[in-house]
Amino acid sequence: MKEILRVLSRSEAETKKFAEVFAKEILKLKQKTAVVVGLEGELGAGKTTFAKGFAKGLGIKEEMKSPTFILMRVFRSPTSRGSRTSGRHFFHIDAFRAELDFSEFLKSPRNILLIEWSDKVRKIMPKKYFQFRFKHIAKNSREIRLYA
Ligand SMILES: Nc1ncnc2c1ncn2[C@@H]1O[C@H](COP(=O)(O)OP(=O)(O)O)[C@@H](O)[C@H]1O
Ligand SMILES: [Mg+2]
Repeated sequence: MKEILRVLSRSEAETKKFAEVFAKEILKLKQKTAVVVGLEGELGAGKTTFAKGFAKGLGIKEEMKSPTFILMRVFRSPTSRGSRTSGRHFFHIDAFRAELDFSEFLKSPRNILLIEWSDKVRKIMPKKYFQFRFKHIAKNSREIRLYA
């Protein structure tokens, strides 16, 4: 994988906004299988914060929580006619304990999978996916790198 982007987020709000913009770009892709986004980084690095902004970018209004005690949550994007989010399914997955096999959901191009702790399930990740690495820099700063 190649590093294609590196940004410094200076607040939780900035990380959310960055994720929201990225999600909107994802919706423009014309892929044949699911879009997969992996998130790596220590506890508190900002993965779930990113997931919240990402969901917002997909038009999801439900509250996003850290799925640590839930392995996976599925959200349906709002269906307004002609909108890019119509009929899309958003899977928020926590792979920390690597107990979940999500391979079935990789097939449909309607699916968008966001996988926290994707480094734990590298073996079952598809060939192509977006990988974000979060690094704690200071109390409110995180370095975010994107690899693809
Ligand atoms: N720039 C930043 N980006 C993301 N989170 C930040 C940032 N600065 C501070 N934080 C805080 O760090 C914590 C990140 O937690 P969370 O997103 O749940 O991390 P993870 O899911 O990686 O464990 C939150 O409490 C958030 O408010
Ligand atoms: Mg988390």
